[in-house]
Amino acid sequence: MIKTVRDISLTGKRIIMRVDFNVPMKDGIVQDDTRIVAALPTIKYILEQKPKSLVLMSHLGDPEKDAAKAKEKADKEGKPFDLEKYFAGKHRMKPVADYLSKLLGVEVVFLPSCFGQKAAIDALPFGSVAMLENTRFHKEETAKDPTLQEVLAKELASYGEIYVNDAFGSAHRAHASTATIAKFVPTAVGGLLMEKEVANLEPMLHNPPKPMVAIIGGAKVSSKIGVLENLLKNASALIIGGGMAFTFLKAIGVTIGNSLVEDDFLETANMLLEKAANKDVKVVLPVDHIAADRFAPDAKPIIVDSQALPDNLIGLDIGPKTLALYAETLEDAKSVLWNGPVGVFEFDAFAKGTEEVAKLVAEATERGALTVVGGGDSVAAVNKFGLASKMSHVSTGGGASLEYLEGKVLPGIACLEQK
Ligand code: 3PG
Repeated sequence: MIKTVRDISLTGKRIIMRVDFNVPMKDGIVQDDTRIVAALPTIKYILEQKPKSLVLMSHLGDPEKDAAKAKEKADKEGKPFDLEKYFAGKHRMKPVADYLSKLLGVEVVFLPSCFGQKAAIDALPFGSVAMLENTRFHKEETAKDPTLQEVLAKELASYGEIYVNDAFGSAHRAHASTATIAKFVPTAVGGLLMEKEVANLEPMLHNPPKPMVAIIGGAKVSSKIGVLENLLKNASALIIGGGMAFTFLKAIGVTIGNSLVEDDFLETANMLLEKAANKDVKVVLPVDHIAADRFAPDAKPIIVDSQALPDNLIGLDIGPKTLALYAETLEDAKSVLWNGPVGVFEFDAFAKGTEEVAKLVAEATERGALTVVGGGDSVAAVNKFGLASKMSHVSTGGGASLEYLEGKVLPGIACLEQK
């Protein structure tokens, strides 16, 4: 178990804290504040302990990659591309700092770079909160060369005696601000969000209340193989939905029409089904579908009352019989892990399956089951249907929760354990 902010004295100390404020933005406006709100308990707790200063840092998007994409687009269209202009309004942390300031009701001083801020931080009035510019504006943050990465890690470490990592959503990244910095500070601990995430996800990995049912959806099997394999250790049933279900259906010889499929993973799907059978894990695949002749929000939904789909149709959601099967499978569950939507819930006509699954998981919580939702899309779904508060835990991590559930060591957590 990691040490947290509760285990050490913070009074009078300079604190440098990594948060995951990688939130969706549009025209400089925060579109979803879940991750900011999730970090508030840690921020408030730290401020109650009267530190000398609290400096926050986060990445926001992937500036280098996004700029390269924008440049490619401009080049194709024959338009000029000005990098400075591009970054003037994008990936900037200032609007996030202002948003946090409103939520907290205290000033959040914005520091315009991750380098060269020590004097400014030392000069801050006692008890100040500050936020650094996007860590990914510096190539050192994500550098593969450890010496280069350490240049930024050391600089950030000079901003505090205590490093707090509360960025569970970025804990799978071995970057300067998420892990390497811990080497250069006297004390490194986890925040309350990090603690909560680990406390809720850990039982799902090692010792879930049984029977445990896992609902795994999303588009691709390829991104979920590790999780599926790992879940076979503890789950009594594996519900497979979403686009990835069609790779499993094709693997067992069911016709899937024009549905999404990963032909390179048919063997993997069969291997997973065989492993499940050997371990006596029940696998629930869709038995009927809501389909359409094209992938579009205004496509006409057609109920296909069989597991097989005709040639011209694409499966976009699960059908009523499948839902009944899910409900039956979840009836006795003492723990439920849900990762990935079971249909294209972004299109209203194909959202019912995912909404009903969210309701079934909420009902399981009410019956006393431990219910954990992880992964960006299923979290977006429970938020969309207003059911987040009905789950035992909704993870703020997308890739991080997936890697955690695969049983991988997350660098952002390991660096705290090693301290
Ligand atoms: C996320 O959104 O999953 C985290 O903030 C990590 O972002 P990344 O995938 O860009 O590292």
